[in-house]
Amino acid sequence: MRREGPAAPRGVGAVVVAAGQGHRFGASRPKQFVDLCGMPVLAWSVRAFLDHPDIDRVVLVLSPQQAASPPAWLPDGILVVPGGVFRADSVRAGAEALAGDVETVLVHDGARPFVSAELVSRVANEARGGPVVPVIAVEDTVKRVDEGGWIEETVPREQLRRVQTPQGFPSEVLNRTHALEDAGAWQAQDAAAITDDASLCERLGIDVATVEGDPANLKITTARDLALARAMVETGLIAAGN
Ligand code: C5P
Repeated sequence: MRREGPAAPRGVGAVVVAAGQGHRFGASRPKQFVDLCGMPVLAWSVRAFLDHPDIDRVVLVLSPQQAASPPAWLPDGILVVPGGVFRADSVRAGAEALAGDVETVLVHDGARPFVSAELVSRVANEARGGPVVPVIAVEDTVKRVDEGGWIEETVPREQLRRVQTPQGFPSEVLNRTHALEDAGAWQAQDAAAITDDASLCERLGIDVATVEGDPANLKITTARDLALARAMVETGLIAAGN
């Protein structure tokens, strides 16, 4: 007779990071809390995962102050944890809250309210096999400039991609990247340069796949992005939240 071991974790968890201060947005409160056609930006982002049939657990990472008294509009069924100084610290806090519960983790920026159900499914399916990020081809001509703003060169754009979230990972891979951080594999000055989670994999030589991103999945960084997002809802390009 064979004895069964502990059940392997199954399912997909989502970590929505929203612990940043959003200094580039220039408002009195972080961009993820401003109103977007009747709901805070972050409520749109969170709802996309809570409502998704492929997502089993959702963890929201807020600043320590916000996590201590979370906003009243947060729906039930969402676990809130405090984030850290850098984005990678916040992702890590969220991933630790899911520890052992799911085999796949999707990491999403709370500042991307228009993530579609299709994109979540696309990333979740691919992430079972290894790390994956959604990307968009670069349509503009791209130049590298020096510190004075003078053009140094034209960068061929065929191989360039703009990268979005959610980014998907087998839990074990995401945890491995954070374990290396523990071991001091990179320095504090690197932490600010780690603007997405795939870059941690790249540093470790772990292959990262790509899937087609979604041009509507914009990231709200400036007041102009918010105006554009509002126009997308008002013109019906994005279905209004209830
Ligand atoms: O600053 P940036 O726009 O790249 O941040 C992307 C996402 O990461 C935002 O949703 C922001 O709230 C989150 N973040 C975080 N913890 C930090 C810094 C950023 O959760 N320390």
